Amino acid sequence: MTSKRLNTFNIIVLSAVVVAAGYLIRTPWFPIKRELKQSLGYPKDSLLNFTELTGRYGYSTEEHTVVTEDGYILTMFRIAKAKNCHKRKRSPPVLMMHGLLLSADTWIDSGPNAGLAYLLSDACYDVWVGNIRGNHYGRRHITLNPDKDKKFWDFYIEEIGKYDVPASIDYVLDNTGFEKLNYIGFSQGSGTLFVMCSERPGYCDKVQLMIALAPASRQYHSQSTIFRGITQMFEKLEDAFSLCGLHEVFATGAFTQEFFAFFCQVSDMTEAMCEVFMSVFDQVDAFHPGSITNDTTKVLVGHFPAGTSLRNMARYGQSMRSKRFQKFDYGMEQNLVMYGSERPPEYNLSAVTVPVLCLYGKNDGLVDTKDVEWLTSRLPKVLEVMLVEDPLWNHLDMTYSQYTSYAIFPKVNEYLLKFTEE
Ligand SMILES: *[C@@H]1O[C@H](CO)[C@@H](O)[C@H](O)[C@H]1NC(C)=O
Ligand SMILES: *[C@@H]1O[C@H](CO)[C@@H](O)[C@H](O)[C@H]1NC(C)=O
Ligand SMILES: *[C@@H]1O[C@H](CO)[C@@H](O)[C@H](O)[C@H]1NC(C)=O
Repeated sequence: MTSKRLNTFNIIVLSAVVVAAGYLIRTPWFPIKRELKQSLGYPKDSLLNFTELTGRYGYSTEEHTVVTEDGYILTMFRIAKAKNCHKRKRSPPVLMMHGLLLSADTWIDSGPNAGLAYLLSDACYDVWVGNIRGNHYGRRHITLNPDKDKKFWDFYIEEIGKYDVPASIDYVLDNTGFEKLNYIGFSQGSGTLFVMCSERPGYCDKVQLMIALAPASRQYHSQSTIFRGITQMFEKLEDAFSLCGLHEVFATGAFTQEFFAFFCQVSDMTEAMCEVFMSVFDQVDAFHPGSITNDTTKVLVGHFPAGTSLRNMARYGQSMRSKRFQKFDYGMEQNLVMYGSERPPEYNLSAVTVPVLCLYGKNDGLVDTKDVEWLTSRLPKVLEVMLVEDPLWNHLDMTYSQYTSYAIFPKVNEYLLKFTEE
């Protein structure tokens, strides 16, 4: 590497770190009030929550509350009435689970012609859209206060897979009277189902079909230098941040999120700043020109990032260096205490007995094709692994691309139909 390239690289990483630091700051002045944003001319969709946004496009959504065994309160959405389905709904229900730093909004931010939750509802599936602890729809607990109690943020994919996913599945099954459902997980939303199957014997049997979109397990080959830089910074500084009382990261309403939302939305004059945001976004993933429209960007900056724990991010930092899909590494001594072994135990992928359809993109900067292939070679019941035809298909395209209706929906629908009754 020449020194000039090294410098450019350092500048990129440094900017990313500054940007990331801004996501830690939550002050009484943020979030900015919705009325003020409206008067400043923010696009309406970016200010609406899931229920309001789907409502605006002719869909009606029910809000449900899921309480996990360890007390987290999660909002779950069910699209009760689709705009373009005029038949009885198909069964069993479909549960969609979002990825890291995302929320239910991720499935609708690209609008009715591309958002996967809309496409599935229009195809008459009974669509339930989950949320996990720590995001803006999962920032509640029966006893803990997320603003005061460190313990609230003491989680990573382990707890999400062990408690949030099973609670969400049970909730949907109890409400609909079915014994099994079909599950669609994007990225971490797939990884947490694997964790569930590994850690909660029996739960895997409640899922009839799993559709894994760019599934995250190990991250050894991730190419994104920014994602590596940020997660490894959190890993190194976890104790320091924690001492300063910072346990929540990338929250909606944090300074940087508000900052970019402002510049991406207010006027043409500030679009240059928005481009800075988009270029960071592109550096995090890989570049796919035109796939995510400007309109989608303007909407998603109002909902993304949706927040998680420092611990969860730090665990991703670890996963960039490990060839195993394993639990949190507390260091040799503490691992002995926690796990009875010097190395953290691996998640048991042989226990993922659910039939899996896997879709992945060649140009994915976060979940590399090599890691997907490593994963699918270990899953016992893979039905099909499909590399999306578009060679530029990247990670975030799975939920935000304007092309989902023909790039991924037909395959998703083909398999859902096989596991569905009219
Ligand atoms: C969404 O907005 C509606 C209308 O303002 C409100 O009643 C509802 O509680 C909100 N839902 C969530 C989950 O924030
Ligand atoms: C999207 O925004 C970029 C940057 O502001 C601009 O160059 C491009 O022309 C826009 N694309 C469309 C289709 O408006
Ligand atoms: C992993 O799961 C499989 C299938 O349930 C089981 O047979 C095996 O014993 C498990 N391995 C470990 C190490 O727990």
